[in-house]
Amino acid sequence: TPFETILVERHGPVTLFTLNRPQALNALSSHVLADLTQAFAAFEADPAQLCAVITGSGDKAFAAGADIKEMAEKPAADFFAEDFFAGWTRDLVKATRKPWIAAVNGFALGGGCELAMMADFIIASDNACFGQPEIRLGIAPGMGGSQRLTRAVGKAKAMEMCLTGRMMDAAEAERSGLVSRVVPQAELLAEALKTAQAIAAMPPLGTIAVKELVNLAFETTLDQGIVAERRTFQVLCATQDKAEGMAAFVEKRAGVWKGK
Ligand code: HXC
Repeated sequence: TPFETILVERHGPVTLFTLNRPQALNALSSHVLADLTQAFAAFEADPAQLCAVITGSGDKAFAAGADIKEMAEKPAADFFAEDFFAGWTRDLVKATRKPWIAAVNGFALGGGCELAMMADFIIASDNACFGQPEIRLGIAPGMGGSQRLTRAVGKAKAMEMCLTGRMMDAAEAERSGLVSRVVPQAELLAEALKTAQAIAAMPPLGTIAVKELVNLAFETTLDQGIVAERRTFQVLCATQDKAEGMAAFVEKRAGVWKGK
């Protein structure tokens, strides 16, 4: 099914989602969330799809934020009544066990920065810039920015950025641990897809387990996290892919994964 606000392409086992409202710098309207929710659910449900990339159309923006024009019109009580923005974390972050990468190709501001941080990691183009400018609009981050940015770059930078709206360029974002890598803009999509293909070539239960464990590090104590890791390791030892992986190593050949 074609969507109005996003493009969805399959590259073998990798799904590419492209935010597709370039005339609004890919601003994240409720319509975008509805489209992404449906597209992510299809990705998650398809056993042939193993990793995803999300990027923005055009060469200027990943996403310049939540849609300011939509929010400007909305009656105040509706934000609370609809639990506005709850769907982003509920339907994309919590409902998706498979890994997905944000390929940030320009502005990632407000909700755009927050969406990028919902991904399992970010690869940025050299012209990318990140910011939480909500303060300038009389609001505050609402899709996780105050929490995920603080965890990603620490208190000093997160506090300064959220209080002043100052943007971070790609080099500072890499230095600060917000992004895993910076690549030239012309190579961004190819690099992100190549990385996603590399993940998709791994034993699929392993990638789901790794994602869960790394995310758990943000939610739990070290002791409980270490126990969860050890149990997960033990469970993976019962899989066919573990037997195959170790046999393939001994026989000096590539493994063939079943996701079982
Ligand atoms: C709706 C947006 C938009 C947005 C840009 N546009 N950002 N529309 N929502 N977040 C639209 C513009 O209105 C304009 O449409 C078109 O995209 C091009 O943008 P320009 O401003 O003309 O481009 P430029 O001069 O290059 O400036 C780029 C920019 C600027 C610096 C990124 O667009 C900007 O500051 N955008 C807003 C960034 C922001 O404040 N984001 C946070 C949003 S709040 P027209 O029709 O005029 O051509 C948020 C809330 C989270 O995310 C939580 C709240 C509770």
